[in-house]
Amino acid sequence: FQVPPAKNEPVLSYAPGTPERAELKKQLKAYRSVEMDIPMIIGGEEIRTGKKVSIHPPHEIKHCLGHYHQGDEAHVHQAIDAALKARSKWAEMSWEHRASIFLKAADLLAGPYRQKINAATMLGQSKTAFQAEIDSACEFADFLRFNVQYMTQIYSDQPTSAKDIWNRVEYRPLEGFVFALTPFNFTSIAGNLPSAPAMMGNTVVWKPSKTAVYSAHIIMEIFREAGLPDGVINLIFASGPVVAREVFDHPDFAGFHFTGSTEVFQSIWKTIGENIHRYKTYPRIVGETGGKDFIIAHKSCNAQEVATAIVRGAFEYQGQKCSAASRAYMPASRWEEINNEVQAQLAELKMGPPEDFRNFMNAVIDEPSFDKLESVIKEAEQHPEAKVIAGGGCDKSVGYFIEPTIILTTNPHYRTMEEELFGPVLTIYVYDDLKYDETLDVLDKTSIYGLTGAVFAKDRYIIEKTARRLVNAAGNFYINDKPTGAVVGQQPFGGARGSGTNDKAGSLLNMMRWVSPRTIKENF
Ligand code: ALA
Repeated sequence: FQVPPAKNEPVLSYAPGTPERAELKKQLKAYRSVEMDIPMIIGGEEIRTGKKVSIHPPHEIKHCLGHYHQGDEAHVHQAIDAALKARSKWAEMSWEHRASIFLKAADLLAGPYRQKINAATMLGQSKTAFQAEIDSACEFADFLRFNVQYMTQIYSDQPTSAKDIWNRVEYRPLEGFVFALTPFNFTSIAGNLPSAPAMMGNTVVWKPSKTAVYSAHIIMEIFREAGLPDGVINLIFASGPVVAREVFDHPDFAGFHFTGSTEVFQSIWKTIGENIHRYKTYPRIVGETGGKDFIIAHKSCNAQEVATAIVRGAFEYQGQKCSAASRAYMPASRWEEINNEVQAQLAELKMGPPEDFRNFMNAVIDEPSFDKLESVIKEAEQHPEAKVIAGGGCDKSVGYFIEPTIILTTNPHYRTMEEELFGPVLTIYVYDDLKYDETLDVLDKTSIYGLTGAVFAKDRYIIEKTARRLVNAAGNFYINDKPTGAVVGQQPFGGARGSGTNDKAGSLLNMMRWVSPRTIKENF
């Protein structure tokens, strides 16, 4: 069989008067009027422990969206057992039947569930309608459709044979269960991390971020409606250390699919290493972690393009994309022009709740994040090497709002040039035009990360030199574009160094990590 060729889901505009806007508004209202009761889903069963944790929109902390049921060790164990029980039947199911479940899930997402998943992402994770649309609806549907295509490519890759000999490769799933630990910032990533291994015949235990349970619940609803058999993906809510203890001690732990902080990933990798003798097989470890993503402009750049990239790249979704620009290097001769344009664009931006579609920015995800960002901004306001030249305002009386903030520093190694902050704070260093090469060296050595980065220049020799010199500084490198907004099937996403294993979300490379091939030689 051949699957239909994957195409990117078109992004809807939500302009005033469009049917999608009316539908989304209706859905937002509906979600606000009921408190959702969210169970864990283990082996197809809804588990309500009665230990309820309430969910509040980050932009309106006094409002309650509902609650989820928190589990403990026994539930994690139950989820692992359910995954192992479902494994052999699922692994034996022919690929086209697995494919059709996920293709149907993509159609549900892009069709009847579109405004449900968008509204859940807007309310639960404080995203604008546009940011929710490109993430929860389009990118998620793209992940599912393109991954089905990569799956068929993998299965069709077969070795050569000779007369009287038939060689073949069987792409078996991993021997055990896969654990998916997913972030708050992209609903699409939360959906992709459990579904990619599941598509390849694995069964999965999935723990979403506690700040994105609201949309995780809808993802699970879609998978179930698409016909995913019980036990293939098991959704659990329990504290990180409790889950880690049960999962990483288990002899059948066979794979880990992660997006989150570098710190958590490194600590889990260590735990896996310490337990390595317990496992039946060496576990696959696939992780996308932190970033300190950059923009560098050369004096040959177009100032308008740089300014737009700064504003959109650093502040869309409150700077909480792993790809968001958080440090920038500007040439002294063009800085005034670029800064004037940035300030003019910032003056037009509105911040507030996502239900008001005019807002470009909403709230940051939670109080710890707000407090950290506020303290870094306050420190910069006092520091001799830093100056806050835009924003700086922080207010958590209604929700966790932080203004789009720009810190100008005279020290390219100033704290906020190096540390990942995960919020709407960009630090800019203005360099002497004659020192472009030295600036590239500083940029490359400043951070431990290697996720995304962008160069703005019109001089082709400069573009070539920059791309070559920064070869390991970014797994996604942009020329004259902002460093965010990778599209599945167009710019496979991921980075190396401290940013992860660079197995590129939504790619053939990623899908290959979820199989353990067996080579068979038969003599006739
Ligand atoms: N894939 C997301 C982006 O590129 C993280 O912005």
